[in-house]
Amino acid sequence: MKSVIGLYGLGVMGQSLALNIANHGYRITVCNRSRGKTDAFMEGKTGGLPVEAAYSLEDFVASLEKPRRIILMLTAGPVIDQAIEQFLPLLDEGDILIDCGNSFYKDTIRRNRYLKEKGLHFIGTGVSGGEMGALLGPSIMPSGDREAYETVDEIFRAISAKTPSGEACCSYIGPDGSGHYVKMVHNGIEYADIQIICEAYHLMKTAAGMTNSQIQQVFAEWNKGRLHSYLIEITADILTRKDEKTGNDLVDMILDRAGQKGTGKWTSMEGLDIGAVIPTIAESVFARNMSAIKEERVKTSQVFDSHPKAPLGDDFLEQLEEAVYAAKVCCYAQGFRLMKEASEENGWNLNYGEIALLWRAGCIIRADFLEDIKKAYDKEPDCQNLILTEKFREELKTAEASWRQIVVDGIANGCYIPAFASTINYFDGYRSSRLPANLLQAQRDYFGAHTYQRVDADPKEYFHTVWETV
Ligand code: 6PG
Repeated sequence: MKSVIGLYGLGVMGQSLALNIANHGYRITVCNRSRGKTDAFMEGKTGGLPVEAAYSLEDFVASLEKPRRIILMLTAGPVIDQAIEQFLPLLDEGDILIDCGNSFYKDTIRRNRYLKEKGLHFIGTGVSGGEMGALLGPSIMPSGDREAYETVDEIFRAISAKTPSGEACCSYIGPDGSGHYVKMVHNGIEYADIQIICEAYHLMKTAAGMTNSQIQQVFAEWNKGRLHSYLIEITADILTRKDEKTGNDLVDMILDRAGQKGTGKWTSMEGLDIGAVIPTIAESVFARNMSAIKEERVKTSQVFDSHPKAPLGDDFLEQLEEAVYAAKVCCYAQGFRLMKEASEENGWNLNYGEIALLWRAGCIIRADFLEDIKKAYDKEPDCQNLILTEKFREELKTAEASWRQIVVDGIANGCYIPAFASTINYFDGYRSSRLPANLLQAQRDYFGAHTYQRVDADPKEYFHTVWETV
């Protein structure tokens, strides 16, 4: 009996995804470059499930129904190209390769074209949710040739996360690399969302002098309201954990040096490339870079050793909740705006309400709040920016004074809060009808004859002033 689908690459994510597929009753063949991993997987939790192992690519391919559907669950980068080359001689016209890793979308576009020339289909698919998500229901963002995608749609929807009202967190995103693009932006937003939460923790700890247990209670409380989300929930949980070795709170024993695999950096670079304004996402990447230079920070802290201290208001915690919410709205607004610009540039025709829905469950940024984003886009699909939609615009107006006060408190207390500060700056920039770029243009024209437009002339007309005479 042939399998309906195959999965190549039995890392943690690959194993979880394979089990998820088999748990839903789809017969799957798994294969891995090294035999040991396949054996260990088969000896593990596959008992009674429709899972078959293959130990060579030939056997793997031969075990699949036609058109063959092969999921690649591999490390992003050249490994994917190598795997494609190995599969090519074994595949027939119409077969489908599905890259479920965190690939860079431009690689996906390139692979799509390459395989199309060979009569094959390539479905670049963003998958979010980590190991547990892959096992129990991830958020799935597929893209590529639509007809080819339709042949895996049933399986993908079945294994995906479901929203509280039962909708599948999986839907076709668009052509070529759009699925990986949307996943990349998901990760950029993830970076910003995480950074905002970390800054709130930092303010409570450093500016307000609260204990971990008090901070834990605040996060747990927030999780009952409009901030209810996976990231707030795990933050509250993390703050309850004790270190087995020392008995201290585990969070205090973890070195303050952040890692990163690069998707936040990609998002920021895409923002720069396309000319989008996504400062909070970029600041969140810089914040990880700042954390990474621990030794330098320690040395510098001894040079600038006075720590400013300023009193906080009685309603600091209420204001902080408003600031976290407002900052969150702004970083999602930045991510959605970036997708809008990319969609227009690439002709992807992205559906933002649908994207919000498929991030509603299963993925790392899952939150009730995404339901509101979906509703906002359903109501105003062509809106320029999320912060202009009715609900969010009213909420930002309400939050504004607190949000501003929190940034003032942070700065006055010497706290590093780049994400918070960048959101209020983003807001102030976006709502300013006039910015000092007039002076900037004058400077550029002064030193480089770069010309400028005038407030009282057609924007197509450019002017130059002779600023200095020799
Ligand atoms: C997800 C995550 C996932 C992963 C990131 C973390 O959606 O499941 O985003 O892709 O956790 O790779 O990225 P960093 O290592 O860069 O924080």
